[in-house]
Amino acid sequence: MIKQTKIKEILEQVIYPSFNKSIVDFGFLKEIDINENRVSITLDIPSLDPKVETQLREEITKRVSFLGDFNLEITIIKPKPIKETSSHGKNVLPNIQNFVMVSSGKGGVGKSTTTVNLAIALAQQGKKVGLLDADIYGPNIPRMMGIEGVQPVFLGKTIKPILAHNIKIMSIGSLVERGSSLIWKGAMVTQAIEQMLEDIDWGSLDVLLFDMPPGTGDAQLALAQSLPVTSGVCVTTPQKVALDDTIRSMDMFTQLHIPIAGIVENMSGFICPDNGKEYNIFGKGTTQPLADAYSTEVLGEIPIEPAIREGGDSGLPITILAPNCETSKRYSRIATKLWNTLLKVNEEGGVDNQSIQPTIF
Ligand SMILES: Nc1ncnc2c1ncn2[C@@H]1O[C@H](COP(=O)(O)OP(=O)(O)O)[C@@H](O)[C@H]1O
Ligand SMILES: [Mg+2]
Repeated sequence: MIKQTKIKEILEQVIYPSFNKSIVDFGFLKEIDINENRVSITLDIPSLDPKVETQLREEITKRVSFLGDFNLEITIIKPKPIKETSSHGKNVLPNIQNFVMVSSGKGGVGKSTTTVNLAIALAQQGKKVGLLDADIYGPNIPRMMGIEGVQPVFLGKTIKPILAHNIKIMSIGSLVERGSSLIWKGAMVTQAIEQMLEDIDWGSLDVLLFDMPPGTGDAQLALAQSLPVTSGVCVTTPQKVALDDTIRSMDMFTQLHIPIAGIVENMSGFICPDNGKEYNIFGKGTTQPLADAYSTEVLGEIPIEPAIREGGDSGLPITILAPNCETSKRYSRIATKLWNTLLKVNEEGGVDNQSIQPTIF
């Protein structure tokens, strides 16, 4: 009679495809059941990729069959398709194909600037884009998109998003009085996020981008629990101190099971308009090791550029004012990479970094 412990020992040797840890170490082994001449093994894996399943079945069959002559039954439980459960949330907005959370470890690194320009770049590539300013502590999307003071239209209980630069926009800043201090307690944050999701009539969208408050707090958690967030983008500046906070942001994505699209290194070098020389004010290229550690990529480096700040202040972002300049082209490339990640997550149920254990450096 075969022993459970023997089977488990063997399964400990089975490496999960594309990783260097075994299915047992990952905690994917759910059950081993032995009944006379029948051994049934149940796994619960996080991937929808049929190749992963086939590989696991072959490997397990090969290894276990050495133990003798019996009927082997392998059951592999896989996640539901991504639209149901990429993080913990159900898709309460089924007309929206993808949800992207843009995060940063700290404020002032250019998270809103990046979100706005990415949204525009995606729209310029023909996508139907929505932008939700969920930065309840400092909503500045209305200024950056040139809709400050524009009142949203209420239709009964639902709110129509405001259209600017071909993007459907809603901001908590458009819903509260300008300059009123935004002090929120945990439960209020959750409620505000949920309400914004429920009450806004987005219509159908290819992608909805969320400009989050800085850090890793209630808003991020509320969003991940309310919706299946398709992917996360992390914005940082190159200084070491900013990177420390970025690690927390990346760990948060991992803990919330949000596939990471990558890192945008903002304020990365400065090209002096007078002499064309490049100066590394905050440093440059420092985010690559961080991207490597989380099996993701640096989506792009955006330099410090006066036109970016002016674009944000005037409501005419650089991607609108100068769509063919080098920086706008970089935003466009970042948008393409982000879109490819979204496609991958929808096809395969995730990207490789989704199951990485959070790392504290
Ligand atoms: N690459 C850049 N070059 C020049 N100014 C920038 C750049 N990125 C952001 N800024 C400016 O820095 C300030 C902070 O950016 P913002 O996007 O509001 O940061 P966050 O949303 O992370 O708090 C804004 O005035 C913005 O215009
Ligand atoms: Mg901001």
